[in-house]
Amino acid sequence: MLKKLGSLAMGATIAATLVSCSTKPEFTNETQISIIPLPASVQRAAGKFELNEDTVIYTKDDKDSIHCANFFSEKFAKASGITLPVVTARPKVKKNIIVVAISDKVELGDEAYKIKVTPDAAVVIANKGRGLFWGIQSLMQLLPTEAVFGDTDGVKADWTLPACQITDKPRYSYRGMHLDVGRHIFSVDDVKKYIDYLAGHKINTFHWHLTEDQGWRIEIKKYPKLTEVGAWRKTGEGQLYGGFYTQEEVKDVVKYATDRYITVIPEIEMPGHSVAAVSAYPNLSCRGEKVPVRTAWGVSKDVYCAGNEEVFTFLEDVLTEVMALFPSEYIHIGGDECPKARWKECPKCQKRISDNNLKDEHELQSWFIRRIEKFLNSKGRNLIGWDEIMEGGLSPNATVMFWLHMGNVKKAVSAGHDVIMTPNSTFYFDHYQGDKGTEPKAIGGFTTMKDVYDYELVPSNLTEEEAKHVIGGQANCWTEYMPTFAQVEYMVMPRLSALSETLWTSKERKNYESFKLRMRAQYQRYSYRGINYRVETPKGPELVNGFLDKATVSFEKPLSGKIYITGDGSEPTEDSEVYKTPFQIDETHTIKAKVITPEGAESVTVSYQFNKLQYVESVVKEEVSQGVSYEMYKGQFPNTTEISGEPVKTGETATLSIPAGVNGDNFGLKLNAYIMVEEDGVYTFYTASDDGSVLYIGDEKVVDNDGYHSMTERSGVIALKAGLHPIRVDFMEGGATERLIVSMKSDKMEKQKVKAELLFIEK
Ligand code: ACM
Ligand code: ZN
Repeated sequence: MLKKLGSLAMGATIAATLVSCSTKPEFTNETQISIIPLPASVQRAAGKFELNEDTVIYTKDDKDSIHCANFFSEKFAKASGITLPVVTARPKVKKNIIVVAISDKVELGDEAYKIKVTPDAAVVIANKGRGLFWGIQSLMQLLPTEAVFGDTDGVKADWTLPACQITDKPRYSYRGMHLDVGRHIFSVDDVKKYIDYLAGHKINTFHWHLTEDQGWRIEIKKYPKLTEVGAWRKTGEGQLYGGFYTQEEVKDVVKYATDRYITVIPEIEMPGHSVAAVSAYPNLSCRGEKVPVRTAWGVSKDVYCAGNEEVFTFLEDVLTEVMALFPSEYIHIGGDECPKARWKECPKCQKRISDNNLKDEHELQSWFIRRIEKFLNSKGRNLIGWDEIMEGGLSPNATVMFWLHMGNVKKAVSAGHDVIMTPNSTFYFDHYQGDKGTEPKAIGGFTTMKDVYDYELVPSNLTEEEAKHVIGGQANCWTEYMPTFAQVEYMVMPRLSALSETLWTSKERKNYESFKLRMRAQYQRYSYRGINYRVETPKGPELVNGFLDKATVSFEKPLSGKIYITGDGSEPTEDSEVYKTPFQIDETHTIKAKVITPEGAESVTVSYQFNKLQYVESVVKEEVSQGVSYEMYKGQFPNTTEISGEPVKTGETATLSIPAGVNGDNFGLKLNAYIMVEEDGVYTFYTASDDGSVLYIGDEKVVDNDGYHSMTERSGVIALKAGLHPIRVDFMEGGATERLIVSMKSDKMEKQKVKAELLFIEK
């Protein structure tokens, strides 16, 4: 082995297998049948059903049965080249038939279905159309993976269904995916593809975020400037970027979704995130001044005026046209991130506050939302808003979509409101899925497929009764850093697969190991569909590893495919060494690794550093006492190395964190102490910070996490002799929130925050 590792092989002492394989869990029922999301019950039986030119689809004479039977027939024809006839006359011979039918013989539930496959017949039944359609989705996943999305144009495959019995129903009734078309817009065909991905995952709601500061994306006949002006922004290069969907296109998308039993909920943002609208109609803002359609991301102070009646006439007109296009019970009105600066200085808004005996601008926001709710309710619709609609009091019938203040869920449900969970911590698919240094640029954060899988929707402080108001969850796809649909695919897949199981499969049935095994088939389905999905990167070592004599390099078995590695700094390719078993190295190396699946899909390359270390001697100090000294500097410092001037504040604190009273938009901070190391050994230090931080032991830079960024963790390794070592953490903040967490780990110590007991200053 390692013949292609070049310099790595030269310096490496290669041992045979060092680490025994972990025992592999058995999930035979589910994994031979790789349905995602995992059904409530799957029983495999002997034999299989073969689909061939003589197979007939028998359905009932009702709209849903015929629709679902035709849907399956068309998809199967596209995949296999075999067109199965759909008949409603009961066939004489009960052999070689597929039955797709609404049935009330068994009580199943709205979205539930049953499948029974024997060598003679495959039967899919449900009480309702939506359940039947989900049954068809599962039936397609019982076929070879080539068939699932059904447009592989007549490939050769073993067109059989394994004999089995499936009973299935969802855990939550609201299962949503969101798409922001304001920051970047995608073609109608791409939006339809997105809807297909949702259908394949039994996601029943498409939340279409249609209006933003950076672009208004839906034609409104009564207000043509919304799309003539509001749909176009000037980019940094002076080019116009934009576009919109005509009402005909919107109808087409809604029909496409409806054909897949997916509800489309439109979002028309108010009172904030409305720069594009007020740019087209400046009279709708407090100042009445012309502002350009916003180009920068973030939050704008320019919002709808809450004191101007014209705003409500406008919004009611817009919503009237929107309701005519979208038959959904719910209309989303945004309600998030509405700065109150303009309202504070606006005479009309202030008059509205005093006329209505409102306490402040937060109550004005609540008044605004209530007024819109009343209008929607009068038209038989219900309002959904982001959780900021609770500011200043919640509208009586509103459903709250929680993304930010998760601590308020109890308050909403105990007052009888339904809630939908879209936590910014876990269901934001604009977050990184891997190390920031190797992934395509994203907005920030870090959310893995497993994080999505493990999320439990119901907060632990809810009673059983309150928990019933958690109607489901949704992941959000904000597209600031997704200029192309290929990038949307990369960010959404495979986290959508994890989401679908989190929302569909019961807590008792969910199991990540089973999910990972079934994901092999799902990867193939993604590939056959041509999706630009993210292949999971190799897992095992830390990004930075340290050793004294020898290090063992060990990777976990990838979800699918093989790990290809190099040790000479070159990019791994299919011609590189395949990782098979753990091996040892005794020199400093950078090992680059990537996963390539059997279908040829590749992960990004990850560089793992293995540093051969030498002990750093400790220092002797006569008199020390517990503590950390700090210096705070004022100024805008792009990096910690640029922190300069005289400190504006100095003092002592207990830990390597931001001391109380040290804050502001732009400052630098230096923390100095001696750290007591109890045993000789290799230590890993981590800084997680927003913005930059650098950790030094003595003169050595151990962790480099410098510069402007959102909360990001970086690590470094050093070998330390027992005793005291000078430790310094420099930190810089360049706006918004400041955070700093310093942790450490060794062979003998789990990763933990650096304890105050270990930190000393000279007396
Ligand atoms: C949101 O992410 N502003 C709802
Ligand atoms: Zn105003």
